[in-house]
Amino acid sequence: MKLEIFAADEWAPAVGARLVRFVSLRNGLRVCLATGSTPEPVYAEFTASGGSLEGTEVFLLDEFLLPVGDLGRCDEMLDRALLQRLPTPPDALYTFDVTAASLQEECERFEDVIADGGLDLAVVGLGGNGHIGMNEPGSRSDSRTRVVELDPSTQQNAARYGATARPTWGITLGMGTLLAAEEIWLLVSGRHKAEILERAVSGPIGPEVPASYLRQHGNTIVYADEPAAALLS
Ligand code: PGA
Repeated sequence: MKLEIFAADEWAPAVGARLVRFVSLRNGLRVCLATGSTPEPVYAEFTASGGSLEGTEVFLLDEFLLPVGDLGRCDEMLDRALLQRLPTPPDALYTFDVTAASLQEECERFEDVIADGGLDLAVVGLGGNGHIGMNEPGSRSDSRTRVVELDPSTQQNAARYGATARPTWGITLGMGTLLAAEEIWLLVSGRHKAEILERAVSGPIGPEVPASYLRQHGNTIVYADEPAAALLS
């Protein structure tokens, strides 16, 4: 696991610039993107500096089981933070159909689409409870895309994102699905993430802190700002 630490005001511009470069290097990239507060300033830098997702296929990391159009949904957040600010859309956008008759089949569909070409990059955030996507504490490292019951803290996050109801369930790419990506970027910002980042980076690897599994991946970069990295030795 590689660690890159930036001053708080340099973090988003630096990570945004790296994302611009990453997606410009190759056509046909397949990238999984997180939503939430953490990546928002990074996506703002990406679009402000002319980043393009033309030639890129985008996969949403996770989704709340909230009605279509709810502002707290991850597809809505990705749209607001990134997609609607781009001059041209990505080549493909894969989001979760939470209205599917069978959510189990919807998860299998997502797994199949990802398996057919893999992921070149997964951009993920770190939950205050150590989750990645909605892989809550207790998740196994070989878990696949599935419907999950949300931790109370994750349910509360939805309200912070503008949800009109409190979701108790979500769909997430599994830890095993993510660990199969070529490269993983863990974005972490803010002093309130310092304790959990320290546990993810230095504590035991296991289901209590699913983010710790990223240490078993050979090509993970942690992009942290100095406040988030405050407790790392
Ligand atoms: P946040 O959420 O970026 O809104 O803090 C991160 C996460 O829960 O993965």
